[in-house]
Amino acid sequence: MRSPLIAGNWKMNLNRVESIDLARGIAQGTSPGEVDVLVCPTFVYLDAVSAVLEGTPVKLGGQDVYHESNGAFTGAISTTMLADLGCDYVILGHSERRHVMGESNEMINAKVKTALATGITPILCVGELLEEREAGQTQAVVESQIDGSLAGLNAEHVAQIVIAYEPVWAIGTGKTASPEQAQEVHADLRKLLSNRYNATSADAVRVLYGGSVKPSNANDLLSQPDIDGALVGGASLKVDSFMEIIAAAKTKAAS
Ligand code: PGA
Repeated sequence: MRSPLIAGNWKMNLNRVESIDLARGIAQGTSPGEVDVLVCPTFVYLDAVSAVLEGTPVKLGGQDVYHESNGAFTGAISTTMLADLGCDYVILGHSERRHVMGESNEMINAKVKTALATGITPILCVGELLEEREAGQTQAVVESQIDGSLAGLNAEHVAQIVIAYEPVWAIGTGKTASPEQAQEVHADLRKLLSNRYNATSADAVRVLYGGSVKPSNANDLLSQPDIDGALVGGASLKVDSFMEIIAAAKTKAAS
């Protein structure tokens, strides 16, 4: 059974004190259990948040990383630095990295490989633009993002990653994919992984949904069989709304 994962992507939000307060509130409300809880603050506050989370079940992750381990790469952060700060996860290929910062599947592929080599779990994001959905290209877009981002990996590697399906038109817009729309893509994704790798790996991979997940839609989304958790942006910035989404995942884990 895949244990649900609820991940908060804080993006470029919150100052130092707000980050510490949010992490503390989430840690206080989280007991060890069947739901994995993760927060991904901005790089500069990882250390401060890491100190708050020490000894609690809440995990820490980076929002991105560079693929090289060290060297003359001004402004870049390596996976070894993330590991040093206590990160167990890193979000890779988020739509804002793909579409605002211009990251390609090749760049994301290099990052996935470096993260795995460092023992950090990549959360690989994929998802279609609105015009691609309207043109009936969702499956093809997601497939090419998966193939490009996972190039050169084997079934054993793939079993270790987390995938987040985030339709770009649903991110930060208040528009959510319906539970049925999301489930369809998640099931297709798992079928694709089974075809490309094997059924064991495809069964092991957690596929999160992301895009305007909030307390009011979390239960319906998470009750879908192939939705194994959520990557939450806006609703992860407040203790109460994030905890309500975690509660929905607990209901799924108990069912
Ligand atoms: P949102 O962001 O929940 O604010 O739509 C999700 C994400 O971008 O990961």
